[in-house]
Order: sequence, then C-alpha cells, then structure tokens
Amino acid sequence: LHPSIPNIDDFLSGGARWHLASGDALAFLAAIPDATIDAVITDPPYSSGGAFRGDRMAATSLKYVAHDSKLARPEFLGDSRDQRAYRYWCALWLSECLRVAKPGAPICVFTDWRQLPTTTDAVQAGGWLWRGVVAWDKTEAARPARGRFRNQCEYVVWGSKGPMATNRLCDALPGCFRHAVAPRDKHHIAGKPTPLMRGVVRICEPGGIVLDPFAGSGTTGVAALAEGRRFVGCELSSEYHERACARLDQTAA
Ligand SMILES: C[S@@+](CC[C@H](N)C(=O)[O-])C[C@H]1O[C@@H](n2cnc3c(N)ncnc32)[C@H](O)[C@@H]1O
Repeated sequence: LHPSIPNIDDFLSGGARWHLASGDALAFLAAIPDATIDAVITDPPYSSGGAFRGDRMAATSLKYVAHDSKLARPEFLGDSRDQRAYRYWCALWLSECLRVAKPGAPICVFTDWRQLPTTTDAVQAGGWLWRGVVAWDKTEAARPARGRFRNQCEYVVWGSKGPMATNRLCDALPGCFRHAVAPRDKHHIAGKPTPLMRGVVRICEPGGIVLDPFAGSGTTGVAALAEGRRFVGCELSSEYHERACARLDQTAA
C-alpha cells in the first residue's frame, strides 16, 4: 500500500483522494466491501500480440513496442495467458468488480481488435450489462502497412451493473475518442494518453470513486483526480506501482 494510506476501509471512510495497492488484483478486490465503487475503468493486460500461444509468451516490449523505438520501459506482468485462460481470468476479476460496484455503476474495459470478442464475452460472464463499444482512434500516428488497413484503434467495452439511471450527474459523452500517444505522456509500455483517460473517467459522477485494478503507471488515477473524482487502484509490478504513486502524488498536490 502507499505508505500514507494504511488500508482500503480508511480510504473509503476518509477524505483521501487516492489509494494504490501493490499486489495482485484478485486479492486486492477481495478486501473491498460490497457496493462501494462508483465506476470501474480499467486497462488490463490484453494477452494479445499474436495468433499463437508462443506469440503471447513473448516479452511485452517485443509485442507492444515498435522495433525502431529508442524508449526503453520496464516489462509489465500477466500478459501471457492463452485465449481460454484469458477469458476465464477476466470473468473472475470482472465478477469481483461487479460485487464492489454500486448498483447502476458503469464499467469501461480497454481491449484491442484481437481480444474484443473475448472481452465482450468476459464482461457479460462477469455479470455486467454490456452497453456498447467506444473506439479510441490513435490517429495516423499508428504504423501504416502497404496494402492493409492500419490498426489504428483500440476499444473500450462498456456496460453497467444492471439498469443505469438516466439522471446521473454526467454530461453526454462521445462514442469515439481521437488522441495520439505523446512520448512525453507515455509512462508505461501500454500507457494510455492522459487526455483520453480524462474523457473516459467522466462516465463516473463528479466526486465518485473510480476503480482501476490494473493501474500500470496510474493514468486512470491521474485522469480521475484531474477530473474531480477519487481513485482506488492496484498494480502488481513494483516498478510501475512506484511510478504511479509518484504521478498520483504530483497530481493530487
Ligand atoms: C495495460 S497495463 C495498464 C497501463 C495503464 N493504463 C497506464 O496508462 O499506465 C496493465 C497493468 O496490469 C498489471 N497487472 C498484470 N497482472 C496483474 C494482476 N494480477 N494484478 C494487478 N496488476 C496486474 C501489469 O503489470 C500492467 O502494468
């Protein structure tokens, strides 16, 4: 846990703006009381990067970093499950997220084109009401390939814990976001742009608690704080946990 925040109960009942646990998401989620979270917004490891098990077992830097990139970032964890194991594991953590979410709370789960069908299955297997898919257009900065469509988008599978009230205190939100990845704003091999995440966290009502069990470098949390929401999360890699805490500290200051 971040040293200044002793446990999840203190966070939930106190006035701290963020809490980031270090460890495995399933153990972390088990410690959260029922129906306490206002929105789940997460970018789990995709276990993607190829058609075969061997492809998925490769280092995350080989799968997700352009070969000519000069920027080295730490590898991240939990990205080598095969398809059946990935669907099963996602359903486990998604059902725990459902338990801790308040009735009607929204969920947003990032995925790529390979894992989109599996992610829509897993969201529903976890008990969520699937409501749609939002595209994140990474712009023409995504690598082109002659004679092929550019893999220019990632996706947000979204839904809610049962019926969702229409009078929630949120604006009408776009069904598509267009943001390039800026090297200065990328703190993780699979880091998301902060402006993108600031748009996505607005699905949470102002002042509410956003949960991200796979926080990485903490971009969801940074965006949540910047948009006037609170944040609770977890990260397995101690290197990324440290980076995320530093970013959250700086944003909350
Ligand atoms: C795709 S990354 C998140 C990146 C994040 N959105 C950002 O912008 O920095 C997924 C993260 O989940 C972490 N992870 C993998 N398995 C985990 C587990 N079982 N529990 C908690 N975190 C885990 C990985 O170490 C990785 O940092």
